[in-house]
Amino acid sequence: MRELYKRCLIVFLTCCIQAYVGPLTQPPCDRSRRVFTDSWGIITDGPPGSNYTQDSHCEWLIKANNSEQFITLKFQSMGTECSYDYVYVYDGDSFNSPLLGSFSGKTEPQEITATSGYMLILLYSDTNYVLEGFRAEYTISNCSRNCSNHGFCLEHSCICEVDWGGRDCSFKLCQENCGYPERGVCSQGKCICTPNYSGLSCTMYKYDNTGNKWHWIFSGGISPRAAHTAIYEEGTNSLYVFGGYDLNNVLGDLMIFRFNSTRWEDEDGIVVGMYFMKYNM
Ligand SMILES: *[C@@H]1O[C@H](CO)[C@@H](O)[C@H](O)[C@H]1NC(C)=O
Ligand SMILES: *[C@@H]1O[C@H](CO)[C@@H](O)[C@H](O)[C@H]1NC(C)=O
Ligand SMILES: *[C@@H]1O[C@H](CO)[C@@H](O)[C@H](O)[C@H]1NC(C)=O
Ligand SMILES: *[C@@H]1O[C@H](CO)[C@@H](O)[C@H](O)[C@H]1NC(C)=O
Ligand SMILES: *[C@@H]1O[C@H](CO)[C@@H](O)[C@H](O)[C@H]1NC(C)=O
Ligand SMILES: *[C@@H]1O[C@H](CO)[C@@H](O)[C@H](O)[C@H]1NC(C)=O
Repeated sequence: MRELYKRCLIVFLTCCIQAYVGPLTQPPCDRSRRVFTDSWGIITDGPPGSNYTQDSHCEWLIKANNSEQFITLKFQSMGTECSYDYVYVYDGDSFNSPLLGSFSGKTEPQEITATSGYMLILLYSDTNYVLEGFRAEYTISNCSRNCSNHGFCLEHSCICEVDWGGRDCSFKLCQENCGYPERGVCSQGKCICTPNYSGLSCTMYKYDNTGNKWHWIFSGGISPRAAHTAIYEEGTNSLYVFGGYDLNNVLGDLMIFRFNSTRWEDEDGIVVGMYFMKYNM
C-alpha cells in the first residue's frame, strides 16, 4: 500500500514537472515529422545545451518547389552517441529513397546535396545514453550550391568559369597547371601527362617508389564505395577494382584505371568520363 502510494506520488510529480516545463520549451521532436518548404531554414532536434530524448525517432522533410532544384544541408554541430545513435539523410521523401549519408558521433559531416527535390532527415536514438544532437542549415537553390561563385546558373545547370568544373563549379581544373612543362599540359580542362607521370594533375612519378603519399588520380569515373577488392597489374599498368558496396547497393562491377592514359574504363573497355567536363564552357 505504502509502495503504491509512493509510486502514485512519483507519477504525479512527473506529470507536474512535465506540465510546468512543457509550454516553456519546444515539444520534443520524437515521433514527429516536420515539413519545410521555405528556401532556407535551420533543422535541429532541440535548443543548444539540451539533449535529444532516448529511443527517439524524429523526421524532417525538406521540399523544394520541383525536382529540378537542389537541397543542400550544411551541419553546424553534431553530437550523437557514436555507432548507436544516427542521423540519416535520404534523397527523397521516404526511407526507400537513396541514402546519402548515415552519421554518428561528433565529427561534423560534410555538405550534402539532394537532387530529387526532397531531402528526408531522420534522427534515430537507442534506449540509453543521449547527447546534444545536431543543428544544420539547409538551402534550396536552382543550381547546385549556386555554382560555388565560379559560374552562373542557367535552367538548373551551372555554366562554369573557364578554370572550373563539376556540377557545382567547385572543382578547379588543371591544378598546378598540370606541372607544365615536365609533368603534363592542360588541354580542354584536363591534364595530359607526359609518359613518366600520371594522375589528375600529373603528380605521380612512375619511378618514385617512396610510399605513404597520397595522389589524386581522378575525379568522377568510379562511384564511391567501400569493401571492394583491388589489384595493380604491372603488365597493363592498371588498377582493377571489383565490387564492394555503397550506402544503397551491393556492387558487382569491374572497373579499371589505366595509369598510362589516366582514365577509368568499365569491363567492356568503355571510358567512364570525368563527370565535370559536360557543363564546362
Ligand atoms: C518556390 O515558389 C514560390 C512561389 O512561386 C517562390 O516564392 C519561392 O521562392 C520558390 N522557392 C524556391 C526555393 O525557389
Ligand atoms: C546530455 O547527456 C550527457 C551524456 O549523457 C550528459 O553528460 C549531459 O549532462 C546531458 N546534458 C543535459 C543538458 O542534460
Ligand atoms: C528559381 O528559379 C525560379 C524561376 O526561374 C525563380 O522564380 C526562383 O526565384 C528561383 N529560386 C531561387 C532560390 O533562386
Ligand atoms: C544562393 O543564392 C541565393 C541568392 O543570392 C542565396 O539567398 C542563397 O543562400 C544561395 N544558396 C546557397 C546554397 O548558397
Ligand atoms: C622517364 O624517366 C626515365 C627514368 O628517369 C628517363 O630515362 C626517361 O627519359 C623519362 N622519359 C621521359 C619521356 O621523360
Ligand atoms: C604504358 O606506357 C609505357 C611508357 O611509359 C609503355 O612502355 C607501356 O607499354 C604502356 N603500357 C600499356 C599497357 O600501354
